[in-house]
Amino acid sequence: IVFSNSNIGSVCVAKEIANLIIEKQNNNQLCILGLATGSSPIKIYEELVRMHKEEGLSFENVVTFNLDEYYPMDKKSVHSYYYFMHQHLFNHIDINPNNINIPCGTIPLDELHQYCIDYDLKIKEYGGLDFQLLGIGRTGHIGFNEPGSHYNSGTRSITLDHVTREDAAPSFLGIDNVPKKAITMGIGTVKKAKRILLLAWGHNKASIVKETIEGEITSEVPATYLQEHPNTTFILNDEASQEL
Ligand code: GLP
Repeated sequence: IVFSNSNIGSVCVAKEIANLIIEKQNNNQLCILGLATGSSPIKIYEELVRMHKEEGLSFENVVTFNLDEYYPMDKKSVHSYYYFMHQHLFNHIDINPNNINIPCGTIPLDELHQYCIDYDLKIKEYGGLDFQLLGIGRTGHIGFNEPGSHYNSGTRSITLDHVTREDAAPSFLGIDNVPKKAITMGIGTVKKAKRILLLAWGHNKASIVKETIEGEITSEVPATYLQEHPNTTFILNDEASQEL
């Protein structure tokens, strides 16, 4: 779906999420949301906060699993995805803090492997993700699944691509400050979600959007694996769709 601008697109996405939360509430069910960071979802979180404050949208039945976190990364750091999610969403809504799951950037190295297995297990125990929100990196990564990621990969630690680190460099005040590793949900984890929306706004995403939607399915552009998912929609603005 191509929107004339990202604000209108973001409001539509927020409505879909809100409708899902309400539908689950009406059936006395939990709503299991996979959430993303980066600049792309910020307006969506803003709109969900507005709906909570002005329209009484409740998040009491919502359980969230974030896609990724830098490693190592302290929760308290302004660069952490933990900080980002609290600043943009969790601090402003009525979600139960126990229902928030974000990969922990300070887990000791020797516990990391088991920690990642348990992250996937926890999602499975909730019956899987009802909905997954995604952005896309210029390498074609979703979450931090960089080129080379296996289509069936689970949550794991990953070495970040140089392009990804370059893109993150301005907010870290230099590439040397950008962590070299991250924890990310796997492609397999993401693909099990019942519904996926991928967001891409702006010119600088146009060529990777084209490769993702029109290119061959390849581990070199991990987002192309979404072509195999039965219920994925790409949410674009004019600029991001210009090469399609
Ligand atoms: C980071 C995140 C991704 C996100 C990507 C794009 O790499 N780990 O989940 O999709 O950035 O970011 P932006 O939305 O700022 O373009």
